[in-house]
Amino acid sequence: MRSLDSFPRISLGLFPTPIHRLDNISSFVGTNVYIKRDDLCGLALGGNKIRKLEFLLADAKEQGAELVFTTGGAQSNHAMLTAAAAGKLGMKCILILKKRGVTACRGNQLLEKLMGTEVHFLDTDDYADIYAEMDRVGKSLGMTYYKIPCGGSNALGSLGYVSCAREIRDQGFRPDALICAEGSGGTMAGLALGAKLFLPGTRVHGMMVDTDPFDRITPELMRAAAGLLEADLEISSADFTLRDMCGPGYAIPSPEGNTAVSLMASQEGIFLDPVYTGKAFAGLLAMAKEGAFRPEDKVLFLHSGGAGGLFAVDMD
Ligand SMILES: Cc1ncc(COP(=O)(O)O)c(C=O)c1O
Repeated sequence: MRSLDSFPRISLGLFPTPIHRLDNISSFVGTNVYIKRDDLCGLALGGNKIRKLEFLLADAKEQGAELVFTTGGAQSNHAMLTAAAAGKLGMKCILILKKRGVTACRGNQLLEKLMGTEVHFLDTDDYADIYAEMDRVGKSLGMTYYKIPCGGSNALGSLGYVSCAREIRDQGFRPDALICAEGSGGTMAGLALGAKLFLPGTRVHGMMVDTDPFDRITPELMRAAAGLLEADLEISSADFTLRDMCGPGYAIPSPEGNTAVSLMASQEGIFLDPVYTGKAFAGLLAMAKEGAFRPEDKVLFLHSGGAGGLFAVDMD
């Protein structure tokens, strides 16, 4: 198997991120709940995209790119973090965003304005249109450019979360269950593959916050990332579980998600977001209520960031 450390990687965040026990939440749900603080990884407002960007932007640099494109919805955390990382590395970044969600100067749009990021909105739901627009703009500027897919969720980006699983092992932590939000798939696929490699005995649960076919996407991405690592593994849907926590729709807050955000804030002084982590944490609470965890279990919740969304999306 090829070592994770053999891939080009640029340090962008402060790793390892802390893991700590949530005492009040643990009493509330009747098991040991811990949190992995990827919201505290240092760049911009933190979040899961930094680990992916360490691999993706290193690849961009290797390919001689001067300009980076990425995409997502108007309030994409990934897009904002890509702009922050590119700026830190002295690369130009242009965001070609879907004209969906809150386009006003709030949340991540405000942060992009503060960074002076060039943002184009495209009125489409088809990513093919977006990638064609990236080619058009890139060629018109005559610069060498690199296209990062939505959410940074390709095989290379997923290695960021394979490496997170290794980091958890290196922190001496062996969770029985590992829970994360799944929005474009790379985080979940990386963790599920990483658990197979470094955390045997840990069950990875993905909380779906969008309506894409993650039962197909997750193993596909796991296989592609395992291919990069030249890891000879049998990958199947038995390697993870998925739960639909999307509620009324992607980026539309759900009542359960909002309750989970408030519970975490009031009991632990930690802020989740209404689009990803709040819904994912609501999934953890629902599993606990159904008796999915034993009192002695260690359940690790990934705080994947998203604070920008908290200040953009209306939670009433
Ligand atoms: C805060 C936050 N958490 C979780 C996710 C989901 O991660 P992934 O896109 O890798 O499925 C995202 C994706 O945009 C995110 O911004």
